[in-house]
Amino acid sequence: MKHRLLVWGATQIVQVCRSKESMVIGEDMKNVATLDKNENVADGWSLVVSKEGVISDIDNDSAIQLKYGFGHKLGPRAEDVFDQIIDARDCCVLPGLVDGHTHPVWAGDRVHEFAMKLDGATYMDVHKAGGGINFTVRHTCDATEDGLYNSFKERLRRMLQSGTTLVECKSGYGLNLQTEMKMLRVIDRAQRDPDIPIQISSTYCGAHSIPSGSTAEQAVHDVINVQIPAIKKEMLEGNLTVDNIDVFCEKGVFDVDQSRRILKAGIGAGLLVNFHGDELNPVKAAEMGAELGAHAISHLEEISDEGIRAMALVKSVAVLLPTTAYILRLPQPPARKMIDRGVPVALGSDFNPNAFCMNMPLVMHLACVNFRMSMTEALHAATINAAASLGKSSSHGSLEVGKRGDLLVLKAPRWEHLIYQFGEVGHILMYVVCNGKIVHEGLTD
Ligand code: NIG
Ligand code: FE
Repeated sequence: MKHRLLVWGATQIVQVCRSKESMVIGEDMKNVATLDKNENVADGWSLVVSKEGVISDIDNDSAIQLKYGFGHKLGPRAEDVFDQIIDARDCCVLPGLVDGHTHPVWAGDRVHEFAMKLDGATYMDVHKAGGGINFTVRHTCDATEDGLYNSFKERLRRMLQSGTTLVECKSGYGLNLQTEMKMLRVIDRAQRDPDIPIQISSTYCGAHSIPSGSTAEQAVHDVINVQIPAIKKEMLEGNLTVDNIDVFCEKGVFDVDQSRRILKAGIGAGLLVNFHGDELNPVKAAEMGAELGAHAISHLEEISDEGIRAMALVKSVAVLLPTTAYILRLPQPPARKMIDRGVPVALGSDFNPNAFCMNMPLVMHLACVNFRMSMTEALHAATINAAASLGKSSSHGSLEVGKRGDLLVLKAPRWEHLIYQFGEVGHILMYVVCNGKIVHEGLTD
């Protein structure tokens, strides 16, 4: 039986971790597990992906040749043993990146609001004037399902080209059952589309904003008694896959008590808690999330010391979003404190009409410079810990035997070039591989 893929000759295989860790915390984020080529020998490192798309072997080139019985004068050629072969000499091999937080299904850009914000308007000024999320809601409600699908598909393609192989995707620009369902169906359709190799974790975010004309309590009532039951029904009937529940827990949007009620209803529908908290104001969202055993909480620019303690205790993943603090000129989240005090830290692009960035290498760069994270911390945060925030670290986030064959081949002497080259990875990202199949080839100049 032929194997799906052989990658050989690599200067460096960056496993990230190699003991089936579900997440990497604190001091351990300083050490990335790598296999490095010995300069004095011809042998590099090889990786094999099985017919099922799972990593089945990682070893040096000669050991792999011996085990798989190719490369000898009279024996079979590598082409007879593997469907695809990547010559990774002078290259580093890394796990596919995991983007832990995006809002990628929407119509109507907000470039005009960017100009307003550059002129001094805050995020909440724009929001209260009916812009922001509610501007996007109006356009998304008017859009057709096919229109949304086509733009979403194109965005997923761009994410893949920047090295993302698993992405969290939220609804939240409908705020009513009909459009929230439309968005979730669009995400579900992409998950099932054989032409879309990137993997998706789907999040229901019906409580992303208060719909115009209603109160927060009316919105909470609608989310808990109308939207969640309808979504649960579709899930049980096998028509829809939804993985997580999100709410924008923020002063002037949903308060802590309202958010808690919504998240509990989500838990009742079998969803993982993964929500926006303590972004613009310190409201003790982190404390509430930890109490619920949240899988993940995003933003956290305004997290309290007590919130940090609580998240560290229950190992809730902090999904930090460097583009938001950058574009809104917010105080940076206390990433150093969180890492040093044992909170598992992950990264997301927060791609949305406010922060139009889906490039995880650039996000990692911003995390290093603005959050003062080291490159090894940023790599853990954008791979194994982001996978953990989605409950997927047993299959994603590191290069280990038994995990999915999702990987990147980087034409660079060391993996750190992925971050160092400041979002300019188009020329060094030679291959993106999903499930053991080459799905993107970079510019080979
Ligand atoms: O994560 N803060 C709430 N949600 C998004 C922004 C969504 C929007 O502005 O459209 C965020 O930054
Ligand atoms: Fe967000």
